[in-house]
Amino acid sequence: MNIKQGLLIGCCLLSALYLKGQDKVTEAYKEPFRPQVHFSPAKKWMNDPNGMVFYKGVYHLFFQYYPNGTKWGPMHWGHAESSDMIHWRQMPVALYPDSLGYIFSGSAVVDEHNTSGFGKNGQVPLVAIFCQHDPKGEKAGKDNFQTESIAYSLDEGKTWTKYPGNPVLKNPGIRDFRDPKVMWYAPENKWVMTLATKDRITFFSSPNLKDWNKESEFGKDKGGHGGVWECPDLFPLQLDGKTYWVLLVSVNPGGPNGGSGTQYFIGDFDGKTFTAINTETKWIDYGPDDYAGVTWSNTGKRKIFLGWMSNWIYAAQVPTEKWRNAMTVPRELSLKQINGVIFLSSKPVMELRHIALKSVSTATAKDTALMPVFSSLPDQYILKFNTDKINDYSIILSNDVGEKLVIGYDKSKNKYYIDRTKSGKIDFNPEFAGIFFAPRLSSAQASNLELIVDASSIELFADNGLSVISSIFFPNKPYNHLRFQNNKVMTIKNKEVFPLKSIW
Ligand code: FRU
Repeated sequence: MNIKQGLLIGCCLLSALYLKGQDKVTEAYKEPFRPQVHFSPAKKWMNDPNGMVFYKGVYHLFFQYYPNGTKWGPMHWGHAESSDMIHWRQMPVALYPDSLGYIFSGSAVVDEHNTSGFGKNGQVPLVAIFCQHDPKGEKAGKDNFQTESIAYSLDEGKTWTKYPGNPVLKNPGIRDFRDPKVMWYAPENKWVMTLATKDRITFFSSPNLKDWNKESEFGKDKGGHGGVWECPDLFPLQLDGKTYWVLLVSVNPGGPNGGSGTQYFIGDFDGKTFTAINTETKWIDYGPDDYAGVTWSNTGKRKIFLGWMSNWIYAAQVPTEKWRNAMTVPRELSLKQINGVIFLSSKPVMELRHIALKSVSTATAKDTALMPVFSSLPDQYILKFNTDKINDYSIILSNDVGEKLVIGYDKSKNKYYIDRTKSGKIDFNPEFAGIFFAPRLSSAQASNLELIVDASSIELFADNGLSVISSIFFPNKPYNHLRFQNNKVMTIKNKEVFPLKSIW
């Protein structure tokens, strides 16, 4: 065999191995309950989204990852990349635990002006800022075992080098001191870190991502305090030409429908202090399965949110075998004013259209009490419709073994709901079955609804994203029937089902 032949055989072997690897990945995404239009890791445990940053046409998604098990364990940062936030390619693990501890949640920024000095030869560094959780310190009963560290990448997020001067922010003795979300505050040419510190948010600032000074605190006696505060985010959004600042704060437990949930405050931020306009507790998503969500950095005025589609109550018990837990669909955030109160609204990103096929029905159901509409359903789809009045209705997804998921609006309560009490496998945790309500916030006399249905999840966006409910489910057979139920007073119009192509 000559060198040429040898090389050829070598190449063939390598590509065969690669293709086999790819097959394995594709096979992995055919398992029961495997989301087809949401990101989930090919295998093993995942929780919070981390380090979400957009750079050079690529959306990076890092995530809390335990590569050796399907339950939470020593945390790494897993990594996935996408050019549209819809199709994902899982990458090698980005950050491994070290002597300072596990790699907990955090964020990533594009250090355009090379304030950190990590950039070499004009190369712009990406800098990740994350919490390190030292399990030994925790075991020893210390209270300063969570600190903040940084790492940088000079190859567009592929590989990361930890800063030798870590940690960059030491712990003053607060047991819960984590989840740094960093942004560039242009008016003062400085970085601002929003950090969850037990029962409040603490803001820090830095000229270079390495030296941090405390600026202020917010929230000790504001908002929901059913559990510890985690995974905050702070960003500006415009409404009618005015800038408002939005502060997201996840809380666990204490969510609106039990367990984990994400609240938000709307107010003002002057580079030092956040002041809320109104401190009534509001939730970005009322469902049980949207936690620790934050927004992508470096997306300009567009603010795109993604959450972990599970709940700490049962995340380690859900009946999936090789992998555990997925993310929500990315959602574009905006502000809306209703009767003088400003709310955050979430809408699935328009990039979802990349995988939407032509709608299969535009039939209008007129004055029909119980109307079977679709006898066979696509595997995953978007269902959209609107109503001409505000009245009770429900949508029933069911399968041939008598399991069902009910979605609807209850006029007497003025609430939307998702009922998963008879949805299939529910016994893995006593708190899984339930009916989850979200208040209707819109005051319009007509409504619209958009549902994103995947193999084991549903996301409800009502009234242009003002009321949101995300819920996972595990039917013993896929739901293959869909019917609407409504009284004669109201018409459900413009029903459309858009089948979605699998992203895998
Ligand atoms: C939120 C959280 C974070 C922490 C991470 C650990 O779900 O508890 O506060 O950084 O998960 O995995």
